[in-house]
Amino acid sequence: MISVTCVAPVNIALIKYWGKRHEDLILPINDSISMTLSTDELCAKTTVTASETFEQNRMWLNGDEVPFEEGSRLTRCLKEVHRLALANGSQKVSPSWKIHIASVNNFPTAAGLASSAAGYACLVYSLARLYDIPLSEELTTVARQGSGSACRSLYGGFVQWHRGALDNGSDSVAKQIASSKHWPNMHVLILVVNDERKKTASTKGMQQAVKTSQLIRHRADKVVPERIAQLTDAIEKRDFQTFAEITMKDSNQFHAIALDTYPPCVYMNDVSHKIASFVHSYNEIMGSLHAAYTFDAGPNACLYVLEENVPELLDAVQKVFPSDSMDSGTYLRGLSVPKVDSTPKIGDVH
Ligand code: DP6
Repeated sequence: MISVTCVAPVNIALIKYWGKRHEDLILPINDSISMTLSTDELCAKTTVTASETFEQNRMWLNGDEVPFEEGSRLTRCLKEVHRLALANGSQKVSPSWKIHIASVNNFPTAAGLASSAAGYACLVYSLARLYDIPLSEELTTVARQGSGSACRSLYGGFVQWHRGALDNGSDSVAKQIASSKHWPNMHVLILVVNDERKKTASTKGMQQAVKTSQLIRHRADKVVPERIAQLTDAIEKRDFQTFAEITMKDSNQFHAIALDTYPPCVYMNDVSHKIASFVHSYNEIMGSLHAAYTFDAGPNACLYVLEENVPELLDAVQKVFPSDSMDSGTYLRGLSVPKVDSTPKIGDVH
């Protein structure tokens, strides 16, 4: 029997992935860029155990057993890892041994806080450690087949997922733009508005958007390529003004497409909109962009802020959205301030 435990970080998209050009291989219609958070605050932790005595593959998510179905994303990832193990000549564990996987998140699952990204990145990374496969761009294509955004969580810092052009997806890989050390004072403030499961899962929401939104093609073909170039440049230059503007505009465009979907997908709620307005007013008072918001497929906000501006922003957030004013509808369930950080980490191997 051999067991590996790893933790993997959450990543939050600055330029959103929304829409697939291939459902099974999980190939996106546009590039995306994200920032990987530190594993101290939000992470997935997975233990994979392989044994010649196990009779079947099994998996538990946050303590509950989930089915290990043929053709599922889970089995596809496992098959891909086995393929890489054979190609690498890995001898450590026989691919014929069955495995047991236990994974936990320390944050709400499916509440729009990128839990599937950290979860699949962690699963694929743990399996790779089990079979002695090094971290590579090819490994990101495996994580991508678990959940698209997961491929970006295999690297720390700022990461770009390239849509790729090939039909087999081998060039649809994640690559690091800059490590966490490049912009060490970049922080994120997470405002948990609601930790319930989101109404329309991302997979379904983006399928509907590709089918029904007239704006989505314009975004993918015309808007995103330019934004990717501008944001990459802003990250390289540590230009917070451009970084903040593109991030907020891209979050807004993503939600505009969600609303342009038929029937519409509504992810932000009243509190989310209040947070967005608050950030714009705050920036106006400060005289330049001191904070930027982004919202994924849920109502929770991620605010980007430089370390030196964290106390002031935190103070303003707590005044405007007091955590004891549940009845006012502006209650925040939690706050955390992770910073940009590194790749998945290996814990115990025994
Ligand atoms: C809004 O990666 O969860 O968070 O590939 O279908 O599993 P699947 O979708 P998923 O979508 C994430 C969408 C997003 C934006 C992003 O992370 O880029």
